[in-house]
Amino acid sequence: MIDSFTFHSLKEVTSTQDVAHSFAKESKLPHAMVITATSQNSGRGRYDRTWVSPEGGLYMTIALKPRKSIELWSQLSYVVGISLSEAITQIEPVCAPQLKWVNDALLGNKKVAGILLELLGNDTILIGVGINLKVNASINDVLGTSLDKHSAKFSREKLMDTFLKRFKYNYNLWCSGSFEPLRNLWVRMAYGIGREIEVKLRDRTQIGTFIGIDDVGNLQLLSGGSIVLINAGDVFFH
Ligand code: BTN
Repeated sequence: MIDSFTFHSLKEVTSTQDVAHSFAKESKLPHAMVITATSQNSGRGRYDRTWVSPEGGLYMTIALKPRKSIELWSQLSYVVGISLSEAITQIEPVCAPQLKWVNDALLGNKKVAGILLELLGNDTILIGVGINLKVNASINDVLGTSLDKHSAKFSREKLMDTFLKRFKYNYNLWCSGSFEPLRNLWVRMAYGIGREIEVKLRDRTQIGTFIGIDDVGNLQLLSGGSIVLINAGDVFFH
């Protein structure tokens, strides 16, 4: 459960994930610590991609020590995605981001935020969140967008505060109950259910129809008449 967050705000860093690693080495990384930076010069995304992070974006790492089985921790991608979408919609109801499996938030079909989950030892997970607030979003993704293109209502403080309130609520729900209510919420916000997708796995590519997620959080792909379950991969739409 989260009662309250401990904040650590920095200016330029290599990556807020790196800062969390250093704090952990000094035993200074409590549960629910939030590390933010105004810019990062070595920001990273999934699959070792670079996350270019100039001033104007929102960059944060949340360190958590969940008291749930480690096999379930990947469900936190859904908890974070839902919280991001809820926060953005709460600030500006005309903006309701859709969630692209499993770690992206899209506005108008373009990526506005990304999530990175990293295990730290066997008791801590680092949740990295990068949101394009006022940046040239094409730096990370030709198909990127930023919140300032959609509305003037977003400020760094308001977005962070609203997101963390939603995250605390959803995380505590995850800690105390089943995954089912979160799964239902995520599916309602999901991008591309019913569409043909290509999932790049470590060693191959799987093609099929994206039909949803199962009760533990695997992607369900209808392929050749049977349902294939996928727990990690990069999704492409046709
Ligand atoms: C992705 O879309 O691939 C995930 C991007 C995650 C970027 C965030 S910004 C804060 C934290 N620090 C990093 O270096 N990366 C994450």
